[in-house]
Amino acid sequence: MLVADPPEHTRYRRLVTRAFSARAVAALRTRTEEIAEELLDAMAAGGPQVDLVRGYAALLPLTVIAEVLGAPRAMREQFLRWGADGVPLVDFGIRYREFRRGELAVDALHGWMLQHFEALRRDPGENILSALVAARDESGGLSDDELSSMAMLLLEAGFETTVNLIGNGVALLTRHRDQLEVLRCAPGRWPGAVDEVLRFDSPVQRTARLAHRSVEIAGERVRAGELVIAQLGGANRDPAVFADPQRFDVTPADAGKHLAFSAGIHYCVGAALAKMEGEVGLHALFDRFPDLALTVPPRRRPSPVLRGYDRMPATLSPKRVPA
Ligand code: HEM
Repeated sequence: MLVADPPEHTRYRRLVTRAFSARAVAALRTRTEEIAEELLDAMAAGGPQVDLVRGYAALLPLTVIAEVLGAPRAMREQFLRWGADGVPLVDFGIRYREFRRGELAVDALHGWMLQHFEALRRDPGENILSALVAARDESGGLSDDELSSMAMLLLEAGFETTVNLIGNGVALLTRHRDQLEVLRCAPGRWPGAVDEVLRFDSPVQRTARLAHRSVEIAGERVRAGELVIAQLGGANRDPAVFADPQRFDVTPADAGKHLAFSAGIHYCVGAALAKMEGEVGLHALFDRFPDLALTVPPRRRPSPVLRGYDRMPATLSPKRVPA
């Protein structure tokens, strides 16, 4: 879907949009809150020293998307490993060793998907993968390769990006305590704060398009066949669009104008889901641990496309009980 043009793109997208509509996402909010609380309980039990990426930011979106897709919870650690090995494939100029490791991970996930589709055929559930398998089996539906590619895209896009939204949000809010205080006094501002995290520290920094024909964009000539790289993270700091682009501020009216989910026909299918997960995930975390502090500077993941952290050591201190 991500690299297809119409009419294929339209056909793929039509199969999944309903599952990620605003209505479908609203129905998932309570379950997401329960998952967040479960993960916070587990971290609190193992704390006070934790890695917020492994223990929380990665597991929250992964658990949600696994449930949406009808993939077993027991596979989460394996999905994380395949995801970590596969992610460099979205970068440019990677080393051959990383490329091979990525390909092996994709092959392994593809193999797992094929046997999982068989299980869903025998025993379908109320989830998108079961619906896609049924679409596969209708005449004119999806081929096996299309089905597997769609399933892998939804799974990977569903957790390898939102982990960065939550991690980047934690890093920014622990560094800007005044902004956290604003949210504590006005919890209704959380959705705006999530947009500001997406704008200020965009989890997907860039995407690309291949020109089908020669065009002129903003005074630049692009010839047919040329690759155009769109730097979404740069656009999100554009002073022509944002009043004070270099400042992290959870209250501005213009934060929602960001391009963190891209634009046009490939606009992120999971945008509403990601925003809801970011809001629930960050709000629940800071509500439970208001004095949460990072113990050492968090470590950035090496990818230039996916901007986030792969390690975030922190000390948890429980909520203060009012005297
Ligand atoms: C903070 C989290 C997320 C960010 C920043 C993000 C960002 C993006 C961006 C920038 C694109 C468009 C790429 C382009 O224009 O070439 C995209 C597409 C896509 N995203 Fe997300 N995404 C996030 C979460 C999710 C989630 C939770 C899902 C759930 C399934 C998802 C599924 C997809 C899919 C399927 C596409 C392809 C859409 C198409 O090609 O029509 N994303 N995302």
